[in-house]
Amino acid sequence: MMANPTNRITDGEIHPEDQFDRALRPTNLGELIGQTQIKENLAILIEAAKLRSEPLDHVLFYGPPGLGKTTLAHILANEMGVNIKVTSGPAIERAGDLAAILTNLRESDILFIDEIHRLGRAVEEVLYPAMEDFSLDIVIGKGPAARSIRLKLPHFTVVGATTRLALVTSPLRARFGATYRLDYYDIDALVEIVQRGAGLLQIEYDAQGVYEIATRSRGTPRVALRMLRRVRDFAQVRAEGRITGLVSEAALDLLNIDGLGLDDLDRRVLLCVIEKYDGGPVGLNTIAASVSEEPDTIMDVVEPYLLQLGYLERTPQGRQATRSAYEHLGLGYSSKDPQQKLF
Ligand SMILES: Nc1ncnc2c1ncn2[C@@H]1O[C@H](COP(=O)(O)OP(=O)(O)OP(=O)(O)O)[C@@H](O)[C@H]1O
Ligand SMILES: [Mg+2]
Repeated sequence: MMANPTNRITDGEIHPEDQFDRALRPTNLGELIGQTQIKENLAILIEAAKLRSEPLDHVLFYGPPGLGKTTLAHILANEMGVNIKVTSGPAIERAGDLAAILTNLRESDILFIDEIHRLGRAVEEVLYPAMEDFSLDIVIGKGPAARSIRLKLPHFTVVGATTRLALVTSPLRARFGATYRLDYYDIDALVEIVQRGAGLLQIEYDAQGVYEIATRSRGTPRVALRMLRRVRDFAQVRAEGRITGLVSEAALDLLNIDGLGLDDLDRRVLLCVIEKYDGGPVGLNTIAASVSEEPDTIMDVVEPYLLQLGYLERTPQGRQATRSAYEHLGLGYSSKDPQQKLF
């Protein structure tokens, strides 16, 4: 039985019930907190396209879940004043599906393709000429009588998003005029994001209460906002509705989220590597099986943050726990390096 990842507050996926997420989503570049460099680059991209009265160049966003890829795609459409059509790699099953989407686009529209690394081969083949020459090759008929006709498409913009840049084929990558990597947010930005959310939701808070949420949100706005919601519940039920440092701390402790934002699954992964496999190296699939989780969840949601903290290392032989991971979990560390063992 797989653990249900939707129960994780720190899980980066969007859930259908996340109306909340939508209400708090920034709609223009000015509202977007953090990611200063990306914002500046996008502002130039937008302004230049507007000056030339041209559609935007194709843009690819990549990075861990919950950092704002989808948000940025919508912001681009807003700032350009164009329509956005939203789809995803797995949703476009056949080349014909993509052809149908493309022929329905209008001049300057944005086609947002989420999880673009999951596009099928045949679909990609159709996308290449569409992105490059704004044309669509359609084969009519079968066998020797088959012939191909070329349809002209409007000049549109693909905005792609992926958590796995490495899985985006290089011919596809090459067709994006701009590629941006979203990185985890620093504490200051997260504090601002939580404050903005609390303000929009009319929640009372103090600086310490917000700070406590920000520091445990593993650099991820979606996690920060979801924690804010849980802490708000706690504040309403157990305190006087006001989010203070003590309230945040108690609420997040009760959810088993530690001071760095690690939850049960993160700790189970580290413990698995350390206790079952003597600190590693151990393969990702083995870890996933040991903790009864999907390898994708481990790879997308758990591992990037543990790597970022320096608790896990990727080696050609597999994942390895570092000394800091042992220390964080309060476990004794003994180096496997024979040189160091002498001392
Ligand atoms: N810079 C930001 N400022 C304020 N809120 C933000 C920011 N970035 C993201 N958010 C909030 O976090 C939530 C998650 O962002 P978003 O859905 O864009 O992430 P994503 O990168 O597309 O994630 P996934 O990879 O899971 O699709 C949004 O609902 C938005 O409200
Ligand atoms: Mg998204």
